[in-house]
Amino acid sequence: MSVRPLKIRPAIIGNWKMNGSGKEIKLVSRFADFVNKHKIAADVMICPPATLIDRAGLAVKGSKLRIGAQNCHNEPSGAHTGDISATMLKDAGARAVIVGHSERRTGYDETDKQVRQKAQAVIDQGLQAIICLGETRQQFNKGQTLQVVGRQLRGSLPSSATPQNTLIAYEPVWAIGSGRTPKPDDIIKVHTHLRKTLLKLHPKAGAKFKILYGGSVSAANASTILALENVNGALVGGASLSFKDFTAILRSV
Ligand code: 13P
Repeated sequence: MSVRPLKIRPAIIGNWKMNGSGKEIKLVSRFADFVNKHKIAADVMICPPATLIDRAGLAVKGSKLRIGAQNCHNEPSGAHTGDISATMLKDAGARAVIVGHSERRTGYDETDKQVRQKAQAVIDQGLQAIICLGETRQQFNKGQTLQVVGRQLRGSLPSSATPQNTLIAYEPVWAIGSGRTPKPDDIIKVHTHLRKTLLKLHPKAGAKFKILYGGSVSAANASTILALENVNGALVGGASLSFKDFTAILRSV
């Protein structure tokens, strides 16, 4: 089976996690200005906490920078105290929702099935689902990475997924927030395995899905990582909270 990479427009997505308050809307506006001024050869998005989506959406109006969310419930509404639906996130101004981040899989015991249901709910709203996968340090040490991410992809990808409505993000759990990244060859191996799995699941469209890398992406390593085969962008945590670092990453596309 051919896994020769197609030319795919990359996506650089900032995940602010549980960081940021009203004063960071200024940072969103600065990112929007930067994206408008420079010809960035990538789709650019910031996923702030849910409390800022509405304000961030207003701040990027008319710009190419888009706003996304970090999680959602799989039902559109109902008795789920404290939860937020994809319908509500769309209403607030989100254009995409991250689902299955390892901090949710670990912290809230989210299963592949739940992640798939959430992704479906996102797609049903006409938004993009950003489905996260990745192995733990223990699984990496045992040489189980390909098996783990393959299983997560098959279990988390809804059958209605297309390259337009779904992005995949490979985030090794041990690389997140640690300042450590896999060796370039290891990233290529995983992304190629994910590409092959996508081609098996979707023989026609599998070649076109964006597969992002996430986990300690920085201004220093972005150009190396973004140039790797089958890496179609980055999901950036900590560095997306800094104007200097995130714009340096955008410049390195
Ligand atoms: P860091 O870039 O801070 O390692 O976080 C990665 C991540 O989890 C993005 O979703």
